[in-house]
Amino acid sequence: MTSTQRDIEVSYDVSNEFFRLWLDENMHYTSASYASGEETLERAQENKARILADYAEAGGGARVLDIGCGWGAMLEYLSRRGVGEAHGITLSAAQATEIERRAIPSVKAWVCDYKDFVPQEKYDALVSIEMIDHLCSPAQARDGLAVSLYREFFRKCSTWVKPGACFGFQAILRDKVPRTRKDLDDLQFTADIIFPGGLNPRLEDLVMAARPYWEILDLRTQRTSYGRTTAEWLRRLRLHENKIRLAWGDRTFEDYDRYLSTCVRAFEREWSSDVQMKLRFNG
Ligand SMILES: C[S@@+](CC[C@H](N)C(=O)[O-])C[C@H]1O[C@@H](n2cnc3c(N)ncnc32)[C@H](O)[C@@H]1O
Repeated sequence: MTSTQRDIEVSYDVSNEFFRLWLDENMHYTSASYASGEETLERAQENKARILADYAEAGGGARVLDIGCGWGAMLEYLSRRGVGEAHGITLSAAQATEIERRAIPSVKAWVCDYKDFVPQEKYDALVSIEMIDHLCSPAQARDGLAVSLYREFFRKCSTWVKPGACFGFQAILRDKVPRTRKDLDDLQFTADIIFPGGLNPRLEDLVMAARPYWEILDLRTQRTSYGRTTAEWLRRLRLHENKIRLAWGDRTFEDYDRYLSTCVRAFEREWSSDVQMKLRFNG
């Protein structure tokens, strides 16, 4: 099964206060884009948001949809950039509550599965940041369904936009398989306990799935940026160790410490990467 609503609650509904402690101030829960490597996580997240909004050509007055919008960090950036309307969908009720609390000008978000989403009007631009990894489970990938599940996502998105609309898309990737039992166990733990129902896609599957609906105009990978992002998340998590153990229990701290430590190794050793694509709907 693709990640269910219950799976999403496991991944994102621990507590908004918990994630606020170790993510950047706007709560992007995806790779930042470091330019020099010396900048803060906050600056690198802003850079990621700019790259994807530029890819989407989300200019002044545009109607933009963020598919899998998390706690609204990208919506907040789009609002500051002066788009006409910035809409988001998420499967997490806790995330939608946080977006409502922020009361960001021109922003609306709904708890809605992308499969059920029906826009009131067509959008000028789309963004989606590391949501697609929830659309195919390891069992479905073993059954050879990955490309068809991703293609259905890209097809559906193309029905929501005007001809010529652009899409700023980002996905985490699985590249290589580690060799040791411990590394395999740590990756399995991350998949089963932190992100149940999900699987990082292969780059070649995404490229096949995006076509024929979307033309790929640009594609860049940023493995080392994700390494830096997860290392900074881990550093901030550890700064708040006592508070986290007290408020959410030893198990939560230890699980998140193990998951983030595994991510740092995964990007360093090239088991995982991250891709950003500029797509255009030519229909
Ligand atoms: C890793 S989070 C990324 C959040 C946000 N894009 C960011 O950059 O912080 C993945 C997001 O995808 C959403 N999601 C997963 N499956 C979904 C689905 N079928 N329909 C809509 N949203 C979904 C989750 O609720 C979550 O908000």
